[in-house]
Amino acid sequence: MRIGIIGAAGKIGQMRVATVLADPRTELAAVMDVSREKAEANAHGAPAFTDLDAFLGQKMDAVIISTPSFVREPLCMAAFGAGLHVLSEKPLSNTLEGARRIHAAAQSAGVKLGAGFNMRYYPAFAYVRDVIDSGKLGQINHMRVYGGHGGLANFAHDWEYKSEFSGGGALWDVGIHMTDMARHLLGEITEVYGVATGNVWNVPGSEDNAMAIFRAPSGVTATYQATWIDWKGYSSVVEVYGSHGMVRGAYAPMENLLITMDKPGGTRKMERKGYFGIKLREKLKSWKTTAVASFQDELADFVGLVEGRPGLRIADADAALRAIEVAAAVPESTRTGQPVQLPALGG
Ligand SMILES: NC(=O)c1ccc[n+]([C@@H]2O[C@H](COP(=O)([O-])OP(=O)(O)OC[C@H]3O[C@@H](n4cnc5c(N)ncnc54)[C@H](O)[C@@H]3O)[C@@H](O)[C@H]2O)c1
Repeated sequence: MRIGIIGAAGKIGQMRVATVLADPRTELAAVMDVSREKAEANAHGAPAFTDLDAFLGQKMDAVIISTPSFVREPLCMAAFGAGLHVLSEKPLSNTLEGARRIHAAAQSAGVKLGAGFNMRYYPAFAYVRDVIDSGKLGQINHMRVYGGHGGLANFAHDWEYKSEFSGGGALWDVGIHMTDMARHLLGEITEVYGVATGNVWNVPGSEDNAMAIFRAPSGVTATYQATWIDWKGYSSVVEVYGSHGMVRGAYAPMENLLITMDKPGGTRKMERKGYFGIKLREKLKSWKTTAVASFQDELADFVGLVEGRPGLRIADADAALRAIEVAAAVPESTRTGQPVQLPALGG
């Protein structure tokens, strides 16, 4: 598959370029960024562009859009217009309306839209999903999802936290991965009740803490927290509880705990996974090695999504949209004091 990359010179864009070059199924068709120097420095011999029409004029099947979300919509629309499939970084857009327009446009163009929720591929979180699918936990009852870090000091650019560019705060940043994770594990999120607050960092429109309850049509509920006030540092955690056990997945560090029982409250069997190879690799090289490994797996699934293969882990267009609908629903619920209903997307 011939893939073009927009935003190729960025922190994530460079990793996306590396994954396309490394995968024997994909070929780097062209790169684009805002300056010729930046584009050429990350082209690895592929044609480099600053002009969108010239970039899209190259022979390609799909694009990866790794720009900030506030410039994404026209790029997606142009790619769809050229009949190209799109893998978009998260969040899909910085507005609910923009995300809905992009989702609708992908559908009417008849192309595939994948979303960069690469934490689905982190081994600890993939394990959680696999344990749920195995039935070992019995009937799933509820889950807890958490994503947090210590806020503004972690951002390199204003657009990452100022709501006019980012869409909002912790819900749209570290939290959006865990919103997607909740949906990935629950099946769908159709009701959101929550409270968002912003009195620590005091960035207008950007919540620094959000706590919510999500409900799925199956009756399974999730408690959710996204925060910029975790002074312990960056952390994402999922815990899923069923009639016959529980599973926990966490990063960083990468860890799992699985408890299974022969009956509710019965004899407990406990297993732990420590991922020492990953911890060593991260210590010797960088956390980026874990991100790149997930991008590699995600790219393989994106190829599968375009080919129409079933049973993939990748986040699709519905996942991209629902994560943003939920991020918008928590502040709405905060304002009204009422739960927000979201019809199932069915993707
Ligand atoms: N999946 C993850 O784990 C993860 C982690 C961090 C960031 N992200 C997301 O990745 C995206 C990029 O983040 P980043 O940290 O790499 O940012 P970055 O600033 O390092 O890179 C963005 C790149 O996009 C380019 N760009 C901006 N506007 C453009 C335009 N109109 N056309 C072409 N290129 C343009 C910039 O010049 C820059 O090279 C964001 O959506 C961010 O939320 C994802």
